[in-house]
Amino acid sequence: MAYLFPRRLRDKFWPEPLPPPGSFQGQTVLVTGATAGLGRAAAVHFATLGARVILTSRSMASGEAAKRDIERMAGITGQGKIRVMELDMNRYSSCVSFFNQLKQSEQWSHGLDCAVLNAGIINPHFAESPEGWEQTIQVNTLSTTLLGLLLLSWMKQGPKDRNPPHLVFVTSRDHLEPDITSWADWSGQGGGLLQYFSREENWPSHQPQPNYAESKLMLMYAVGEICNQAVGPDGRVRVIVNSVCPGLVSTDIARLVVKHSRAMQLLVPLYLGVLGKSADYGARFYVTAARASEKEHGKFVQSLLTDEEYHRLRVPNMESDTATDVKGLVWKEILSELREKVPSLDELMKA
Ligand SMILES: NC(=O)c1ccc[n+]([C@@H]2O[C@H](COP(=O)([O-])OP(=O)(O)OC[C@H]3O[C@@H](n4cnc5c(N)ncnc54)[C@H](OP(=O)(O)O)[C@@H]3O)[C@@H](O)[C@H]2O)c1
Repeated sequence: MAYLFPRRLRDKFWPEPLPPPGSFQGQTVLVTGATAGLGRAAAVHFATLGARVILTSRSMASGEAAKRDIERMAGITGQGKIRVMELDMNRYSSCVSFFNQLKQSEQWSHGLDCAVLNAGIINPHFAESPEGWEQTIQVNTLSTTLLGLLLLSWMKQGPKDRNPPHLVFVTSRDHLEPDITSWADWSGQGGGLLQYFSREENWPSHQPQPNYAESKLMLMYAVGEICNQAVGPDGRVRVIVNSVCPGLVSTDIARLVVKHSRAMQLLVPLYLGVLGKSADYGARFYVTAARASEKEHGKFVQSLLTDEEYHRLRVPNMESDTATDVKGLVWKEILSELREKVPSLDELMKA
């Protein structure tokens, strides 16, 4: 959309303001996938603003290296305010064991004030997760939803008199892009939509980011359901849930896309170089979302579109009759997959 170019340039040079120093003093913030890019930049912001930060990585070695960088950048070396935990979202067992360890940790036992589910991937090559799903769908949709459900149930149990904690899902404006008119039909074909997007013969290899927009749209559907579950029987919001798009940010997320073809080797760095903002600037929207008010529960935090534009553009994929049908189908599939593969899900959500 050409009219967005000037706004991308604006966002590249005019940062979202940060709250005053000490705004997160005494708070504990979880950031998944914080060894690089936006997650690491967000961890630096939260730590600089006073928070204790739990960051996750698939490898403890790179998590510890990121921890040292973040402590240095935030000026908190040696203060013991950052903790690294292992999390591989290709496997449900890793998500569940991460969640159990998080809950059991005495050091952080007062619970979380904010969780930012940031970890996400783009993979131009078809790859299957150990759970049997295409990896983009596995990480961006299924495992993010699993973590969201587990964290929500835990965060809801906090004392009723404290300010509601925040659960932030990093999605993308790309959720507006898929054409969902055939999704209900695909859902009806053996195995459902998740199977459809996970079959190699349906892999859209001509696209630079196959399944990415679809994975984020399905996550947006799940976030809608999680928002409903975050409201208590008295109608009060127990956990403030938001989705956020950091905008176009120069990170390594496109590294595999760049390797994919010669054209991409030229185009991606050029595009990101001209219009991509820094991870520092993009991660500021996570901080904004982590301070959203109860009235802003459910809001999609982003800067590229005006609220009016976003509400108009979201109609086909989020508000139309087709979207309502598809949303229900997707949620049903996600929930039945999670219940089947994580039989302890309902118990974990109650405990
Ligand atoms: N960059 C953009 O322009 C942009 C725009 C809109 C939305 N986003 C979203 O922002 C989020 C962060 O993107 P980024 O650009 O910062 O990407 P990035 O630089 O590639 O960082 C991704 C992070 O996710 C972690 N990760 C990757 N695979 C994982 C897995 N299987 N399990 C657990 N963690 C995993 C990585 O940590 P380890 O390798 O240490 O595990 C890494 O720290 C993503 O959700 C992305 O979709 C980005």
